[in-house]
Amino acid sequence: MDVIPAQAGIQDIRKEWIPAFAGMTKYKDSIVDKKRDTGLIQDEPLIFEQGGKGRKGYSLPRWDIEEGEASNLIPFNLLREELEGFPQLSEVDVVRHFTRLSQWNYGVDSGFYPLGSCTMKYNPKVNEEVARMSGFAHIHPYQPEDLSQGILKLMFELEGFLAEITGMDHVSLQPAAGAHGELAGMMMIRACLQARGEGRRKVLVPDTAHGTNCSTSSIASYQMVEIKSNEKGMIPPENVAAEMNEEVAAIMVTNPNTLGLFEEDLREIAEIVHRKGGLIYCDGANLNALMGIVKLGDLGVDVVHINLHKTFSTPHGGGGPGSGPVAIKKELAPYLPIPVIEKVGETYKLNEDRPLSIGKMRAFYGNFGVLVKAYSYILSMGAEGLRKASEMAVLNANYLMKRLKGHFYLPYDRPCMHECVFTDRFQERYHVSTLDIAKRLIDYGFHPPTIYFPLVVKGALMIEPTETESKESLDRFIETMMEIAKEAEENPDLLRQSPQKVKVKRLDEVLAARKPKLKWTKGE
Ligand SMILES: Cc1ncc(COP(=O)(O)O)c(C=O)c1O
Repeated sequence: MDVIPAQAGIQDIRKEWIPAFAGMTKYKDSIVDKKRDTGLIQDEPLIFEQGGKGRKGYSLPRWDIEEGEASNLIPFNLLREELEGFPQLSEVDVVRHFTRLSQWNYGVDSGFYPLGSCTMKYNPKVNEEVARMSGFAHIHPYQPEDLSQGILKLMFELEGFLAEITGMDHVSLQPAAGAHGELAGMMMIRACLQARGEGRRKVLVPDTAHGTNCSTSSIASYQMVEIKSNEKGMIPPENVAAEMNEEVAAIMVTNPNTLGLFEEDLREIAEIVHRKGGLIYCDGANLNALMGIVKLGDLGVDVVHINLHKTFSTPHGGGGPGSGPVAIKKELAPYLPIPVIEKVGETYKLNEDRPLSIGKMRAFYGNFGVLVKAYSYILSMGAEGLRKASEMAVLNANYLMKRLKGHFYLPYDRPCMHECVFTDRFQERYHVSTLDIAKRLIDYGFHPPTIYFPLVVKGALMIEPTETESKESLDRFIETMMEIAKEAEENPDLLRQSPQKVKVKRLDEVLAARKPKLKWTKGE
């Protein structure tokens, strides 16, 4: 038997003695080359292709009753048909199958996740722990008010914190998502204008607003009028003035906008709209650029929604519950969704007796677990901490933008907020697209950023580093992007054929959309 020499370095041992490492390229010294290899990611067949006859994932004591036919014992409508080819598996087969699949997954707990416009930030685990405490997790929505004082207090105080952060007068925690908060807000605007006897029919929406703003204005039965942004990526007040008249109910402004820029003329725009009797809706979903720095209410905003599942410690995406509280100015208070939480003396009450309310937006009181996480996050960060988080989010995005400028085209060359937008204009001459750049990042072990959004930017590549990333992880990403820019010049085919180091390479996206194969069929 061969003996491994004791003085061999780990690299030598791997290369000489373990056949799997033969041919592995030697790491160079740069940060980029220290990327992970994929040697331990095992191939994984479908679960239907695994197992063996007679394998079981359970062990039960021997029957002490006579065995009978399932159809004699179980009602017909509850009986499952035999599924041809259904696998027989042991416990360890099942555990390994799902564990391996989970290891192919990529999330913010495994690495940098720079999706712009979506704030996929890392959230402190302590807030998850708090939300899981049995007093919160097991409370029943029909529990009487006098036995629910603790949670009513939490919700009442959370409303107060969010009002303070946004500079508004009241908050409803009911909406279950950002778009749902928008709808609640627009319904309150409608109710308010109707109470004034005004049946306005239009809503102004800039081309830099989030897509949900357009859909919300239509769902709330308004006709949308688009406002074009200028070469600085801003809404020009004169464009708003040109469209503003007694037909217009409101303007819906996303701030920071989808270019990752702060709408610096918002106060002037608010004055223009108010002067003609309209209201200002602000989409504050990406509040983690503003917390503790700007209060949207101070800029003339009448209604703003917040995505707790972005800024306040609940992950965005992933299909979990969200929460899109909506904050309003005093004038809109009569129209708040019911029930409204009120504090009478030292007692908290749910008030449903509000005749002008737009009604219930959701069963019960909102996604309570998400509210607990937000409350816990705000208390654990404190005012200073929240401000610091926003400062870091903005600093990180600007650091990244500054270092990548020159390697990728920057259409709006000015300080950004929490995210920045590049394009593939420099790479076009090598026939390399934004999609190729994003796919190549996967080979380097990074989740790609948002691509082809916002729509107003051709070939957009939108990066949001978030406040929790260290300088080292930002540098690793930046240097990888620089390397990719170099590859685009020297070996564009490499980018066009990437990713190579993954289980599933580039898909035929048209075929996948037109003929999706969504279930297993034996023999296919
Ligand atoms: C600016 C902005 N507004 C609204 C939304 C909609 O939020 P939701 O997905 O919770 O409906 C998003 C979501 O990413 C957003 O980024």
